[in-house]
Amino acid sequence: MASSATFAKLDAASSTWIGRQSLSSRPQPSSRLAPSRVSLPIRAGHYTDELLKTAKTIASPGRGILAVDESNATCGKRLDSIGLGNTETNRQAYRQLLLTTPGLGEYISGAILFEETLYQSTTDGKKMVDCLVEQNIVPGIKVDKGLVPLPGSNNESWCQGLDGLASRTSEYYKQGARFAKWRTVVSIPCGPSALAVKEAAWGLARYAAISQDSGLVPIVEPEILLDGDHGIERTLEVAEKVWSEVIFYLAENNVVFEGILLKPSMVTPGAEHKERASPETIANHTLTMLRRRIPPAVPGIMFLSGGQSEVEATLNLNAMNQSPNPWHVSFSYARALQNSVLKTWKGQPENVEAAQKALLVRAKANSLAQLGKYTGEDESAEAKKGMFVKGYTY
Ligand code: 13P
Repeated sequence: MASSATFAKLDAASSTWIGRQSLSSRPQPSSRLAPSRVSLPIRAGHYTDELLKTAKTIASPGRGILAVDESNATCGKRLDSIGLGNTETNRQAYRQLLLTTPGLGEYISGAILFEETLYQSTTDGKKMVDCLVEQNIVPGIKVDKGLVPLPGSNNESWCQGLDGLASRTSEYYKQGARFAKWRTVVSIPCGPSALAVKEAAWGLARYAAISQDSGLVPIVEPEILLDGDHGIERTLEVAEKVWSEVIFYLAENNVVFEGILLKPSMVTPGAEHKERASPETIANHTLTMLRRRIPPAVPGIMFLSGGQSEVEATLNLNAMNQSPNPWHVSFSYARALQNSVLKTWKGQPENVEAAQKALLVRAKANSLAQLGKYTGEDESAEAKKGMFVKGYTY
């Protein structure tokens, strides 16, 4: 449904939904008084306690999220980079390698899966979900249906997936998922237009409310793409605008802030900007944005890596944890946790153990960065390679 229609309803003076927790009572024919407003409580969420517990488990000290939720098409790109075909068997082998890594739960508190993996078993017949739960890793699920062009915008996109979402999220809960992810994007070189920002924020807020209603902690991810030659101040300005709208519409939708997690981009210069910024500068700008926009009730900020190299993403996270923050500041990386794993595995069964060790190296480095104790020593050249791809699609 077009969001503009929904906004019109929210703004209409006749709407029974105006005023967060009240409905206009009908004027009594006999009464000479102006119609009074009767406060009705918003229905208490069935799952509120569980949501708070799940969010706290994921945002636990020294741990973060492993994102393995690439759609089949995107997983195909990963496999193609090491010369493997995009078959269900190859996707299963790769996900099995990642999710059965011994000791992963020490550093990883949650794993975001694609639907195929949520319903998949290992080659030994064990559910992937059970492999995670055994290691005290919370299973999560990507629920958005991807990006399509946004008509009326400046070549921008919007994220699909709200239709039928409530029935999908309740099925995912039954299957063992306890948190969800919805990723939409905002492009700085394309504007961003007010329309694209509003649409992104509204979609995220509707998704978050629906997920909480089904017992899933929503990860709210408006990715501000790295594309562009703008400086860091411009990114800060756009990030503040985006997050102000996201927070506003989350509140409008009565989302429980204690039961969500945010997945922002770090505030960096555009990938094609003439100068790079140091981890300290990135941390300063990112924390400035968060302090100005994000309520301390939110338990966790789980950054995406967005095309940074593995080492850059870890150094920047570490810089943000040099002094206490009101939220758990951690990671939810896909590319910055998987790159050296893939390069080590190469699709060969005899490399599985070495590839799992490579995953543990990255997971441990980011765990230390979450605690502000990462030194950046002994990192491989591969881990320092940037992964930015212009116009990258997930
Ligand atoms: P990256 O860390 O590769 O940017 O992934 C972000 C993401 O949304 C995956 O869930």
